[in-house]
Amino acid sequence: MSDNPYSTAVLAWYEANARDLPWRAPGASPWSILVSEIMLQQTPVVRVLPAWRAWMERWPTPAHLAEDSPGEAVRMWNRLGYPRRALRLHACATAITGEHGGVVPDDHATLLSLPGVGAYTAAAVASFAFGQRHAILDTNVRRVLARAETGVEYPPKTQTKAEVTLAESLLPPEPSVAARWGVAVMELGALVCTARSPACADCPIAVQCAWTAAGRPAYSGPPRRG
Ligand code: ADE
Repeated sequence: MSDNPYSTAVLAWYEANARDLPWRAPGASPWSILVSEIMLQQTPVVRVLPAWRAWMERWPTPAHLAEDSPGEAVRMWNRLGYPRRALRLHACATAITGEHGGVVPDDHATLLSLPGVGAYTAAAVASFAFGQRHAILDTNVRRVLARAETGVEYPPKTQTKAEVTLAESLLPPEPSVAARWGVAVMELGALVCTARSPACADCPIAVQCAWTAAGRPAYSGPPRRG
């Protein structure tokens, strides 16, 4: 098993260009990473930042949140939208406190059993908090892979098994490198390979990109968002 053909360029690009986000800082707690992933599910980074800081200050561990009421969690969620996520995070804190000794579990299956934690979030926490090797497939990653590997402008509307297989085949063998690769591709999608105006001139893998090689054809599949 060797690293994929993009990993060196994407990882070097990430080192030089990644945003300095507090949940990516060395030493960020697994709980703070879990909170960030739930907040980032439907809310942009700039709006998540102040909410995440306030949340972590008030409830630095799952036990702190579990001691408080679900209503307080919803109130604190404030303008992030989709407030059911606050209730799920509260239920998650309660489960971690009651069933896991207050410690965020480090294995994918146990993470997946927590309220509000789906396949993406379980993989993101296992990877970003615990340095494990899991394929990360959020909208940004799906778009990068659709372009670079499949040669189309956008991925299918709903995630397919083929996308999972592709993402798994591209995972670098070393877990810590795989974890870095996951966040690096996500960042590439967020900053360069954007949905509407990709900055291909700034892309570290433009020379390897199947969509670029094909002349960047416009999307011609079924109607979709983004
Ligand atoms: N860094 C780690 N996870 C992230 C996410 N879901 N969105 C943006 N940046 C992230």
